[in-house]
This record gives sequence, structure tokens and C-alpha cells, in this order.
Amino acid sequence: MRRFSRITGTGSYLPPRRLSNADLVAELAAKGVETSDDWIVERTGIRARHFVADGVYSSDLALQACQSALEAAGLQASEIDLIIVATSTPDMVFPSTACILQNKLGANGGAAFDLQAVCSGFVYALAVADSMICTGAAKRALVVGAEVFSRLLDFTDRTTCVLFGDGAGAVVLEASDTPGILASDLHADGKHVGILCVPGHVSNGHILGDPLLKMDGQAVFKLAVGVLEDAARATLAKAGKTEADIDWLIPHQANIRIMQSTAKKLKLSMDKVVVTVDQHGNTSAASIPLALDAAVRSGQVKPGQNLMLEGVGGGFTWGAVLLTL
Ligand code: ACO
Repeated sequence: MRRFSRITGTGSYLPPRRLSNADLVAELAAKGVETSDDWIVERTGIRARHFVADGVYSSDLALQACQSALEAAGLQASEIDLIIVATSTPDMVFPSTACILQNKLGANGGAAFDLQAVCSGFVYALAVADSMICTGAAKRALVVGAEVFSRLLDFTDRTTCVLFGDGAGAVVLEASDTPGILASDLHADGKHVGILCVPGHVSNGHILGDPLLKMDGQAVFKLAVGVLEDAARATLAKAGKTEADIDWLIPHQANIRIMQSTAKKLKLSMDKVVVTVDQHGNTSAASIPLALDAAVRSGQVKPGQNLMLEGVGGGFTWGAVLLTL
């Protein structure tokens, strides 16, 4: 019998420190950086974001999200045989955040690795975990997006520092006789490395280059809208479905205008789009599982519905996963 993978539990975690736009505007004003709630809301749809406290790392956020997802799935951590953490903000250069998380969970022994595809990381990780489950390489996976982007931000650059937040989301993906993940479609185009990057690196005991986030916002915006439409259409075609089969679109939560353009191109009304960017900001690889968990727990999305998850981000990377919840 053919083997499939299904999501059996979701979880998420936001650090307690919440900054509304007004809070951030006041903090930035104290540093001589001028911005406003109106500008941020109008251009991005963001109203608030969460930032970690000193000493809190991606694995700490991931741990909380995973415990919540395991509880929802009715599983113990010891039953997990694969952990994939999508992150661009690992705790250390090495070992992987997935190994650190595995130990914190007490899920030792299975495979654990990080996956780096920036804001597309979660859909990449979900597609990889699905492949590993379908081939029999794993039975029960934790697929996680966890980020502390606040540590990559240049708080003197108003064009980027108002956009991002910290958080984590996770799903339990289990082997199943009936299809959950229906199809996926992943891409990258490395010629766009420079439009969204953190160019610094560790070398000989020093940080070489700039370790803060750089972005050409307009270039990212234009590319994002095009590739999100393409990835959704390619994924639907692989699954033998059409736009009409999508119950909910759960796109990467970067900017409400990117989401609106994508929905319009796919002929979906905005009341079929899960939106959390207003409350979370852009949490990179964590944004899709955070949005998914919020929608599951609020009852917005329901078992049996078809969800189109879509990521896009630095690399340039993009991809989509269509699944039945
Ligand atoms: N507050 C006030 N004014 C600002 C701010 C700010 N925070 N940031 C920029 N401005 C000013 C600029 O200086 C500029 O002023 P000028 O006209 O006097 O020169 C004006 O606002 C317009 O700037 P633009 O960059 O043209 O603004 P735009 O409408 O393109 O919006 C934004 C910028 C929000 C970054 C947009 O380009 C965008 O959303 N891009 C997508 C990028 C994105 O979402 N990246 C997230 C990571 S990638 C990903 O996750 C896919």
C-alpha cells in the first residue's frame, strides 16, 4: 500500500515581549530613527511583533512550539524519529539547532538537521519530511520553523527594522494510509542572492562582513508576487486540482500587499487567506507554521480542508505545499 504523510498536530510560540507599532516607533525615535504607525500599517499591514529577551534562542522558541504540537498530536517526544528545523537564526554555527532542540525535547536518537531556505524554509522542510516519510526513512517527524530575526536587524535602518519579529511554529507529520500532503513544488534562483541577505560570516574568530539584514524591498516585492502565483499553480497541477479546490491559502506572512496580490492572481478572495502578519510581523521560516497553528486553534481551518502553504524569501527561494488537513 502506498505510504503518505499527514499533519496530526500543530503548535506555536511567541516570546512574551510584544511591541505594537507605537512601542517600536517610540523606541526608534529615541535613537533618532523616524517612522510611524500609519506608514508601517499602510505599506505592510503589520501592527505588532514579538521580540525575544536576551539569552533566548531559536531552540527555546522551537521547544515550546514542539511541545504544543506533540500534545495536539497525542504523542510523546520519544516517539519522534525525525526533526527538521527551518531557521536562518541558529543558536550556534554548529551543531544544528535541530540537535539542540532534540536534546531539550528528550527525543534523542532519530535524525535531526537544520534546513536553510530563509522565509521559504518551512515549506522546504515540510516537503523534505514528506519525502522521507513516503520513502519509509521516517515515521513521525517534527517540522519546525524557528527564528530570532530581531538579532539580525539594523535598528538604524527604518526600511527593514519595522518588518520582522521572532517566534516559532511546528507540526507533527506522521506516516498515513491516506494522503495529507498532496503535492509540493520547490525552487531557488541564486542570482538574486544580493537582494535579501545577511552578508557577514564568522572567520578566524571574527565576524567578517556585515552581520545585519540587507534588503532591496521593491525587488523582493516584485519577485515574490510572480513566483508565489507560479508555485501555487504548479503545485495544484501536480495534485490534479484547481484554485477552486483551495479552502485556505496560508502564505508566508511578509507583507499584506504581497498576500493580496497573490490571492488576486489565484482568484481567491481575502476571506480565504489566513493573515497573521498584522500581529506577528515577518517571522521568516516561522511565519507559516505560526499562521497555521493560529488558524487551527481558532477553528478557522478545519480537518478535511485543503490548505495551500506558500513560502518565498532570501536565496531567492520559493515553494508551495498543498495538503489536506
Ligand atoms: N517609515 C517611514 N518611511 C519609510 C520607512 C519607514 N519605516 N521605510 C521607508 N520609508 C520611506 C522611504 O525612505 C521612501 O521615502 P522617499 O520616497 O522620501 O525616498 C518611502 O518611504 C517609500 O519607500 P519604498 O521603499 O519605495 O517603499 P515601498 O512602498 O516599496 O515599501 C517595503 C517598502 C514595505 C519594504 C516594500 O518594498 C515591501 O514590502 N517589499 C517586500 C519586502 C518584504 O516583505 N520583505 C520581507 C522579507 S522577504 C520575504 O519575506 C519575502
